[in-house]
Amino acid sequence: MTEPCTLLIFGATGNLATHKLLPALYHIEAAGRLDSGSRILGFGRRDWSDAHWQDRVRDALSGRLGERLDEQSLGRLLSRMRFISGDLEQPEDFARLAERLSSDEDLPDNLMSYLAVAPKHYGDIADQLAAKGLNGQARGWSRLVVEKPFGFDLESASILDQRLRRCFSEDQIYRIDHYLGKSTVQNILVFRFANLILEPLWNRNYIDHVQISHAEARGIEERAGFYDGVGAMRDMIQSHLLQMLTLVAMEPPPSLDAEALRDEKVKVLRSIRPIPREAVHGQAFRAQYGPGRSGETTLAGYRDEPGVAHNSTTETYAALKLYIDNWRWRNVPFYVRTGKRLGKTNSLIAIRFKHPPQQLFRSTAIEQLKPNWLLLNIQPNECMRIEIQVKQPGLEMRAQTERLDASSCTLPPEHIDAYEALILDIIEGDHTHFLRYDEVNWAWRVVDPVLKLWATERDFIHSYPAGSWGPVEASRLFDREDQDWRNEM
Ligand code: BG6
Repeated sequence: MTEPCTLLIFGATGNLATHKLLPALYHIEAAGRLDSGSRILGFGRRDWSDAHWQDRVRDALSGRLGERLDEQSLGRLLSRMRFISGDLEQPEDFARLAERLSSDEDLPDNLMSYLAVAPKHYGDIADQLAAKGLNGQARGWSRLVVEKPFGFDLESASILDQRLRRCFSEDQIYRIDHYLGKSTVQNILVFRFANLILEPLWNRNYIDHVQISHAEARGIEERAGFYDGVGAMRDMIQSHLLQMLTLVAMEPPPSLDAEALRDEKVKVLRSIRPIPREAVHGQAFRAQYGPGRSGETTLAGYRDEPGVAHNSTTETYAALKLYIDNWRWRNVPFYVRTGKRLGKTNSLIAIRFKHPPQQLFRSTAIEQLKPNWLLLNIQPNECMRIEIQVKQPGLEMRAQTERLDASSCTLPPEHIDAYEALILDIIEGDHTHFLRYDEVNWAWRVVDPVLKLWATERDFIHSYPAGSWGPVEASRLFDREDQDWRNEM
């Protein structure tokens, strides 16, 4: 059971709250993990009463969860929900908010302010909360939750950080990267550091290269307003993919304490070899989906999506080749890639081992032996697989690939998403799965040179058909001809 708190959601009627936060809160409620005194206070422009907000939440959750919705849990959740209408740009609306928080005895003193709004509002909201005394410890704790992307580039991230930290201290700020709440991503740590057999192999002597790939079959849906100004590099690589890379590449931390873990992740980010301007074309690639098909369905091209500029060169596909200059990883390429409207939704970490020093066997008369792969599928299903070579049945001394699956490779329960775990962590004051500012800063340093060059090359972008696995030209990033993307297990 957690401490009672008021969970104040800015942007309560928006996309993130509707699709992620409310379902997560419902699941936390259903699991009996919210203190009976906790309340959820929505802040939004609409002039809604508490009852109207509760009806909207009921509709949203019914639409999403259908028959899986448990009426009793829903009833308990709705009974906690309050609404206050306000405009993010009006200081007097924050004054009314402060007044309600202090006078309404039903609202617990501990305050979690969740900024589920466009990043351009983060600074103003923090200023307003501070101006109204809602950033202090006077009433209880006060925590500020911000979503990615944190800034637009290195410079704006630093300006935003300074602004937030004038109002809230680092230990009050929770920078969310929801990938760190996924149990399969957390499993990377368990897999690496609870098993001794991997560690001797986990380095440049045995690993040929690493791929971290996030593919989405869906397009940008209704998010053009956000996405067209951001693109795949900022949306996915600067945050989620680099975070996964740090977990794969980091040294064992002395403990799972938040600072110890984040210190090790920062060391990885700091060790990534900077990409000089003249190397960008060899180490980075971007493209945009054009019209295409998925089975019988015709898919629109990115520029035909509602809200996208007809001449937009925003990338919906981005790939990077990175090197980590430390003793463990020197000269091992890490290929990271993400794309929308690809062949299938799948997130995969694929680690390819080197060939044995001497090839005694062939897999067929002409084919060379395949290397070992270690595959960690993050989603949609959690699966770990090792591909090894065994003798083909029969008289010949030939090898064939066998797959050793470490789990049943099943789909996780649909309702478990990252946000449940992260919201509970915030209530408990645990920073382990949140970004410290130096992580954000170093991650921007990795992608900034690429983004800066791309910003000057806005007249052309490679294209790929929606529903395909991306442009063939992306293979130019590979160091050797025998390397290629692993799209799936
Ligand atoms: C978000 C990005 O952070 O992550 C989206 O803004 C992306 O563009 C999403 O689709 C992917 O998250 P998940 O949990 O669906 O894999």
